[in-house]
Parts: sequence; structure tokens; C-alpha cells
Amino acid sequence: MQLSRGKAKTLFTVKNQPQQLIMHFRDDTSAFNGNKIESIPGKGRLNNLFNHHIMQHLRSHHIATHHIQLINDTDSLVHSLTMLPIECVIRNRSTGSLCKRLGIPENQILDPPLFEFFLKNDSLGDPLITKSHILTFNWATRTQAELMKSLSMQVNRLLLPLFQQAGYILVDFKLEFGYQPSHPNNLFLADEFTLDGCRLWDSNTLEKMDKDRFRHNLGNVLQSYQTVATQLGIPHIHPS
Ligand SMILES: Nc1ncnc2c1ncn2[C@@H]1O[C@H](COP(=O)(O)OP(=O)(O)OP(=O)(O)O)[C@@H](O)[C@H]1O
Ligand SMILES: [Mg+2]
Repeated sequence: MQLSRGKAKTLFTVKNQPQQLIMHFRDDTSAFNGNKIESIPGKGRLNNLFNHHIMQHLRSHHIATHHIQLINDTDSLVHSLTMLPIECVIRNRSTGSLCKRLGIPENQILDPPLFEFFLKNDSLGDPLITKSHILTFNWATRTQAELMKSLSMQVNRLLLPLFQQAGYILVDFKLEFGYQPSHPNNLFLADEFTLDGCRLWDSNTLEKMDKDRFRHNLGNVLQSYQTVATQLGIPHIHPS
């Protein structure tokens, strides 16, 4: 049974397994809080396989993730979680909204990496918030807020070299976390890690390989996603 339909993924309940969900990756691609929406045939499959690869890598390095297993080309089995209504963003280079907001020049190396919380609320344009907002408005506990930050930093430390070895700069990315109600201090990395939710530049040419190609009409969106997957050694990424 369908549980929810977001902009890019649909969640389904699993018969006799209330603790699990099926996450279906659609071809739908959205940007600017849903104001630009298109279907990119094959993207759902690519994102599902890409996400599986990254989640497996993180799990093998002791990050708790919601990902259980691949079901087929476009679907994965995940743990059903209570989601925190927060997006965690890590930035290793300056670009995008950070440059606009603070007048920082593009492509500065950010050391230490910058960590930011955003409220997940499309109608408000996902505003930047602080830990103080989170505590005052009860969007998460202090422990959860601290865990979100330390887990995001850990993920960054694991993924920077993974992408670097494949020839890419991990410029920035967004993570979401959730928990099982019986263990609220045990956070799982949830949602997805795909090229829809990060910025990835070619190390030599600084060519954009991520959803910015879609946002800014640069073309070859699927081809770029496929190239990155090939460089990472993800199996079965070519159209079946
Ligand atoms: N393990 C999980 N258990 C429950 N919900 C999850 C889990 N992982 C991700 N989600 C939620 O499922 C939805 C995924 O769909 P999608 O990413 O398409 O939504 P969206 O339109 O981008 O909306 P949002 O802005 O909420 O992400 C998100 O709301 C996400 O928070
Ligand atoms: Mg989403």
C-alpha cells in the first residue's frame, strides 16, 4: 500500500512487516522547491543503484543506515523510521545559496567543512535554522541535534576519499536522519544519498556532474549520473 509520494520517491508499506518500507525511486526530477519538475527516464533506476552503493559503503564503515537491501532496479527495502524534520548540509567548497547568503566567493575550500541545519518545509523554502531553533521548537532533542552533526561529519570523512579516488570533488551534500520510536537516541541515516542531493565536480575540469545540470539546463543529466556511477565501479549501471 502506498504510504507517501514525495517529489522523487514513493514509499510503500510492506505486508506483515510494519517496521519496514519499500522506497521506490521515480524518474521525476524536481528543483527550486518543486517549481521545476521533469521526468528523466532511467534516473530512478540509477539513483536506486547509486544510493545502494553509497549506503553499503557507509554501513561497512559502521554508519547505521535505514537501507536493508535492493529489491529490484528501482526499489529498496528500508527500515521505517520517524523522520526528523531537518536537512543536514555539509559543505566542503563554497557555492550556491551559501555564496548568495553570505557574499562568499565561489569555490573556496571550506576547512573545517561547514555544517548547516535547514528546516524541511517546502512552502517556507527550507530555511536555514540553528540548534537553538531546533531546541526551542522541539524539532529534535539536544542529543539528536548533536548526533546529526557528528554523523554528518563522519559521512563526509568517509565519502570525500571515495569520490576523490573516482576523480571527483564532493562539494556539498544533504542528509536526513530518522529513528525508531523505542530508541530516539539511535539515529539512522535515512532518505537517500544520490546525485540529486549533492554537488559533485570533476576534479580536473570542475564540470558539474550532479543535479545542478538539471537545475541550470546544462543537459546530459543522465549521462553524467551514469559516468559517475561507472567511475565509482557501481555494477549494472547501464540501461537494461
Ligand atoms: N526510512 C524512512 N522512513 C520513513 N520516511 C522516510 C525514510 N527515509 C526517507 N523518508 C521520507 O520519505 C520521503 C521521500 O520522498 P521524497 O524525497 O520524494 O520527498 P520530497 O518530495 O523530497 O519531500 P521532502 O522535502 O520531504 O524530502 C521524504 O519525506 C523523506 O523524509
Ligand atoms: Mg526528498
